[in-house]
Amino acid sequence: MCGIVGYTGSHEASPILLAGLRRLEYRGYDSAGLATLDGPDMIVRKKAGRVRILEENVEAEPARGACGISHTRWATHGPATDANAHPHIGGVGPESVAVVHNGVIENYTALRKLLEAEGIIFQSQTDTEVIAHLIAKELGHGDDLFGAVQRVLPKLEGTYGLAVISPRCPGQIVGARLGSPLVVGLGEGEHLLASDPAAIAPHTTRVAYLQDGEVVRLTPDDFEIFHRESGSITPRIDRIDWTPVASELGDNAHYMIKEIREQPNTVRDACRGRLRRGEGTAHFGGLNISPRRLRQVRRVVFAACGTSWHAALVGEYLIERLAHLPVEVEYAGEFRYRNAPLDNQTLVFVISQSGETADTLGALREAKRQGHPTLAICNVVGSTIAREADGGIYLHAGPEIGVASTKAFSAQVAVLTLLALHLGRIRHLSFPDGVAVVDAMEAIPSHIERVLETEPLIIKAAERLAEARSVLFLGRDLLFPVALEGALKLKEISYLHAEGYPAAEMKHGPLALIDPDTPCVFIAPRGSLHAKTLGSIEEVRARRGPVISVGTEGDEELMRMSEVFLPIPDVPEIVQPLLAVIPLQLLAYHVARLRGCDIDKPRNLAKSVTVE
Ligand code: AGP
Repeated sequence: MCGIVGYTGSHEASPILLAGLRRLEYRGYDSAGLATLDGPDMIVRKKAGRVRILEENVEAEPARGACGISHTRWATHGPATDANAHPHIGGVGPESVAVVHNGVIENYTALRKLLEAEGIIFQSQTDTEVIAHLIAKELGHGDDLFGAVQRVLPKLEGTYGLAVISPRCPGQIVGARLGSPLVVGLGEGEHLLASDPAAIAPHTTRVAYLQDGEVVRLTPDDFEIFHRESGSITPRIDRIDWTPVASELGDNAHYMIKEIREQPNTVRDACRGRLRRGEGTAHFGGLNISPRRLRQVRRVVFAACGTSWHAALVGEYLIERLAHLPVEVEYAGEFRYRNAPLDNQTLVFVISQSGETADTLGALREAKRQGHPTLAICNVVGSTIAREADGGIYLHAGPEIGVASTKAFSAQVAVLTLLALHLGRIRHLSFPDGVAVVDAMEAIPSHIERVLETEPLIIKAAERLAEARSVLFLGRDLLFPVALEGALKLKEISYLHAEGYPAAEMKHGPLALIDPDTPCVFIAPRGSLHAKTLGSIEEVRARRGPVISVGTEGDEELMRMSEVFLPIPDVPEIVQPLLAVIPLQLLAYHVARLRGCDIDKPRNLAKSVTVE
């Protein structure tokens, strides 16, 4: 996934473009570039590496002009080099065009062959460059830029979020959207275009989200949107629901630690206005599905990716326990092509922090194609998944910038706990049992604050792991998904190999991995399976495997068995995942810090993967 920012107005464009790229750098950071229109000239700067390198280049040699586009890249075709950085250029002189693109053009090879046969010399290995040459060709036929772009789009197969400029049309930006998000910022005497509202928020909170198939023309004082089938479009104007401050780093060293520390409020915000203690249940405003219809549901399918998939797995255990409703959790990338047998009493839920993950969007569209009611649990308001689902639940977690998802996981698990309560209470769950869940959830924020205070102990555990070759994370029942999440956090930001398993699985193979160089992290708070998990710990210790544990405060027995014991408050099993995950997030953070890794922008990754 990549980040796009465009600006046209009365101010110099490049400072605005660069500041916008910095806000979107979590979307991809292999290379960055910009193009501005300065009278009859088009100035292009593009560099491999982070946005900072581009900034240094532009500071050394300014790129003038009040209209421009820019891009920060997550490579799909071609390595991160200056030549492969966007913008890509087609044509020459006044007929030239600059294009930035987010998505994948699946028929680019055939298009490239046709263009090369016409004598066009390509400068890069990217799929995007074919778009630049095709638009330049159309422009040369006397078309204006808006028309030229619209004539090229039907030739493209795949996905795109595009921004295009040309000296031929000063002050004008043309954007187009199919499968990759684009949002228009409506300012006073200026307009912006971006992949994510975070780049727009410092300038205006009035936005219009482009829909698939729409093309937009921006000038400083006007904008128009056109759809290839429905013609001219009057868009809905939305308000960005958070301030730029929410996505600022503040005095935190990294976004990840900021977002870990936000989690007491994250859970408060996820529950705000949804707990109904007087009825012993939870209520959601946007589900758009009646209790009567929900009672007819006989099966729930979750489709998600990565951390959201782990949250969905917690949801499975919760819903099956509180509502006795069968639940399956599918990897979205698998579900969309697996043709899973689903009947008309199946409810499909997709879970996605960004609301733009291509695999999850594909799963949603496949479920809709089959006629299933679809609901979404999302964080980004107005995101594609949120808009295309039949209803859903927003996380209200605010922007999550760190590539490693933390507060979104907690918000997802909190929402899933409330959903399980809601489903349980419209079936058989008793009022007292419902009230117990409500009370447990209301106490969670202060319990998270207590766990955050144990950070010095967690740093000690991180020092124990920092040089390990591989780490196993183990838990049972509701804590097995937490083990998976702990392993993902560690591997994605510290590049240490880690795996999560159900603790009972150790003796069926993974125990062969155990030696003094392979630490195990057990999640073993007090509960119905506590003794069995201690048995698994003994199996590891018998083979001299080092043990770090997350357990209930005061658990002397577990302390004795552990090299480092990370305490969490004594809470009902149903809400233990919300606390047990916090030490694991901090553990991954500090191991990555000790290993000198780039915590907010880990290698090879991006915050939201909007390509298949
Ligand atoms: C988690 O730390 C990763 N960043 C990644 O697994 C992420 O959870 C996954 O790509 C799904 O993203 P989404 O929730 O925005 O759909």
